Amino acid sequence: MCSPRIALCLFVAFVSSILSECNGQGYKPAPTCARLECPSYSVVQSEKEFEIRNYNDALWVSSPKIESNTYREGANKGFRIIRDYYRGNNSQQVKINMTAPVLVDVKGSTYAVHFYVPQKYQKSIPAPNSDEIKAVKIPKYKYAAVRRFDGFITNESIPIQVAALKKSLQGTPYQRAAAIDVYTVAGYNSPFNPVNRVNEIVIWFD
Ligand SMILES: *[C@@H]1O[C@H](CO)[C@@H](O)[C@H](O)[C@H]1NC(C)=O
Ligand SMILES: *[C@@H]1O[C@H](CO)[C@@H](O)[C@H](O)[C@H]1NC(C)=O
Ligand SMILES: *[C@@H]1O[C@H](CO)[C@@H](O)[C@H](O)[C@H]1NC(C)=O
Repeated sequence: MCSPRIALCLFVAFVSSILSECNGQGYKPAPTCARLECPSYSVVQSEKEFEIRNYNDALWVSSPKIESNTYREGANKGFRIIRDYYRGNNSQQVKINMTAPVLVDVKGSTYAVHFYVPQKYQKSIPAPNSDEIKAVKIPKYKYAAVRRFDGFITNESIPIQVAALKKSLQGTPYQRAAAIDVYTVAGYNSPFNPVNRVNEIVIWFD
């Protein structure tokens, strides 16, 4: 990353930290990923306002699609179904460690929640007690266009962040992603963490 011009690089890092941006090096790992397992990906391109990632294929667990008037209600219902499964409501009654982020696919007014499956169960996971809960492979598309934001995710903040992501993609080699009207909201924090929250809007595309 920094070698061989170490002095210059340290200077750039210093200035970047003052500007609280770090162009070209991608978003920093979410702090939550220091204590919970998170999925792996490589960064294809990083810009100030967005990042293009290539997620590695992995198993996730998905809730059914939930119809709701608000993000919060739809996401909470889906979250509780998968959390219940992770806490031991499964055919083997095993507890599965929580992971991050929680992904919520948003399509119109339907919400589907996904948890990443820890390494221990990537090859084979305990069968759910309901056929509404499914193991799915993510990603389904080659690329993810990602915009990070902080604070609490609300029904009002989501469309603003989605629009900002799409706007930032205009005129880039990835602008085809801006025409896609489904997206995923990634949340890295529990609702009990009031500060330093990390959220992302993800648009998947080929
Ligand atoms: C929540 O946002 C969605 C779309 O982003 C919208 O269709 C819905 O009407 C909003 N609900 C409320 C209660 O504002
Ligand atoms: C589950 O999480 C606990 C607490 O962080 C940790 O001690 C344990 O090793 C984890 N189990 C597995 C299988 O990763
Ligand atoms: C276990 O999961 C099934 C299927 O999702 C659900 O119907 C049932 O209420 C759950 N049981 C408990 C104790 O939460």
